[in-house]
Amino acid sequence: MKGMKLLGPFNQVMTMRGLPLKGALKDKNCEVIPDAGILVEKGRVVQTASFKALRQYYKEDIEIIPLPKDLVALPGFTDSHTHIAFGGSRAADYSKRLSGISYLEIARQGGGIWHTVQETRNMSTHQIVEKIVTRATRSIASGITTMEVKSGYGLELETEIRILKAIALANKRIPSDLVATCLAAHTKPPDFAGNKKTYLDWIIQELAPIIKDENLAGRMDIFVEEEAFSVDEAAPFLRAAKTMGFDLTVHGDQFTTGGSALAVSMGAVSVDHLEVSGDAEIEMLSASGTVATVLPGASLGLGMPFAPARKLLDKGAIVAFGSDWNPGSAPMGDLLTEVSLLAAYERLTMTEIFAGITFRAAHSLRVLDRGRLIPGHTADIAAFPCQDYREILYHQGTVRPTHVWKKGLKVL
Ligand code: NIG
Ligand code: FE
Repeated sequence: MKGMKLLGPFNQVMTMRGLPLKGALKDKNCEVIPDAGILVEKGRVVQTASFKALRQYYKEDIEIIPLPKDLVALPGFTDSHTHIAFGGSRAADYSKRLSGISYLEIARQGGGIWHTVQETRNMSTHQIVEKIVTRATRSIASGITTMEVKSGYGLELETEIRILKAIALANKRIPSDLVATCLAAHTKPPDFAGNKKTYLDWIIQELAPIIKDENLAGRMDIFVEEEAFSVDEAAPFLRAAKTMGFDLTVHGDQFTTGGSALAVSMGAVSVDHLEVSGDAEIEMLSASGTVATVLPGASLGLGMPFAPARKLLDKGAIVAFGSDWNPGSAPMGDLLTEVSLLAAYERLTMTEIFAGITFRAAHSLRVLDRGRLIPGHTADIAAFPCQDYREILYHQGTVRPTHVWKKGLKVL
């Protein structure tokens, strides 16, 4: 029986085996197997080891999948924070920012998130599905095989539900896995008849039960910020969402602090952004099990300093990286380029970067069966055309995978 496939030989396979969830990582501690093969069965990794040894041991029980020379394989990447379910463009906002008007000021003038909400509300569900499919397909070409996608550009019942349904429909159309998050608490839309508290109550009382009943998202997010929701407004909202069984995640410490402390106190799975986190926040995050998700694309999009990723790792936090792909603050949507630049500025090791877009990012989404090329993990694999894994980040996003497998099936 030839149920098993042997992929290889790869010049190198970076397995991520045995690396801890928390803290700084040295490249010398990362397992890099030379002349390696990956044995796959029913979409899962059976073993990653020397290609020759695997071939000799399994002999005729395996089908060998021949590959070109000089490939380096890694676990398929996870982008744990995106807003790719949006319509329109915010190029006009971007040009305003380049002329000196701030992101928060543009939001106060009625641009920003509200602009994208209006464009997204005007789209059919089918059009939203197409946007998600196009963007997630582009991400597969950079090795991303698992992607979180938030709602948050509907901000009323019908469109929030349509966006979450569009994510589910897109998920069926593409090989990568999409993990949906409800971000109805992105900002209170100006057309909601009530204050911020009653808007958050509405999410919990009206929207969240439908999401639960129809199983449209298992995660609840909120933007804790001056122009969005305060810590005091967000706390009861998060408590209620947790009671309903949602995993919590928070947009925190992007322009002002407060969000990260709240996220940790609520046992959130992650708090994302952290551009303005200081020593107190870093200490607290490092002592917690909440993943600190750094979003370099938002710093690049807004021209703001990067989050203190180096300090977070040194203090022992679980650090993941996401693209934050959205039309306002992070239009690039290119995780590989973004983390390459972050690494250069923050002095992050290559192992820290790859850990942050593989098993550490997967941990923040609670998809625990991926992110390492070890027995039992999903056979999600990205293979780059080079001899040495260090070529990948060195080329700062310009070397792309030539082969991607999802659950053992070749998708690129
Ligand atoms: O993660 N910070 C809040 N939300 C998004 C931006 C959304 C937008 O500007 O459309 C972010 O940066
Ligand atoms: Fe975001």
